[in-house]
Amino acid sequence: MSDAVLQTTGLKRSFTQGDVTIEVLRGIDLAVQPGEIVALLGPSGSGKSTLLQAVGLLEGGFSGSIKLLGKEASKLDDDGRTDLRRDALGFVYQFHHLLPDFDARENVILPQVIHGAEPEAAKSRAEELLGQLGLGARLDHRPSKLSGGEQQRVAVARALANRPPLILADEPTGNLDEHTADTVLAEFLRLVRGEGSAALVATHNERLARKMDRVVRLHEGVLE
Ligand SMILES: Nc1ncnc2c1ncn2[C@@H]1O[C@H](COP(=O)(O)OP(=O)(O)OP(=O)(O)O)[C@@H](O)[C@H]1O
Ligand SMILES: [Mg+2]
Repeated sequence: MSDAVLQTTGLKRSFTQGDVTIEVLRGIDLAVQPGEIVALLGPSGSGKSTLLQAVGLLEGGFSGSIKLLGKEASKLDDDGRTDLRRDALGFVYQFHHLLPDFDARENVILPQVIHGAEPEAAKSRAEELLGQLGLGARLDHRPSKLSGGEQQRVAVARALANRPPLILADEPTGNLDEHTADTVLAEFLRLVRGEGSAALVATHNERLARKMDRVVRLHEGVLE
């Protein structure tokens, strides 16, 4: 168990507005093993995004334990958390957040160069990933010249570019029509499996969730 890529223990998060406190996460115990693809299911408002934000070390305000690659996040300072996020994680969001002034290839090169890769190696990695996602003829296209599904594929390539041990995906196909969502998810799963990364994928789509290795359900603040 100690070599889980992600382990949360008793993870809690509540939000207070005025006199009202909502306990969104009431003690989440979750372990994700290397290479395991876990679907995080739950209705709207159940706390899926809140959990991914916690695990992504994007926000404070949590109690309990989050371990990434065996490192306890709460024991790290800001720089330590930034390093751990960079080394451990790749992110895919519902809306891709690609850089509009850069083409597909550059959007996948940039995070690698920031991570310290040689530009030439980053370029060939970007072209290889985009090629595997069927975008070999779209390398020079800016996001505005790509379809929604193509944009989301570029976001998948970007998330995988640095070979992170764990991908966090929040409704990665939620913005796409059903057919495109199925295709992009299938490609995402194939690529993640091929790379040997683990993934935690929030969705409220049961059908898509069943294509993953394991399903966990968020209900009233805990995992069932
Ligand atoms: N910054 C915040 N301040 C106050 N309440 C918040 C905040 N962020 C989230 N919440 C509340 O926490 C609950 C869970 O929100 P969250 O976005 O995690 O749900 P979700 O499962 O991702 O839903 P969806 O499927 O609609 O994306 C909601 O009731 C929401 O109102
Ligand atoms: Mg959400």
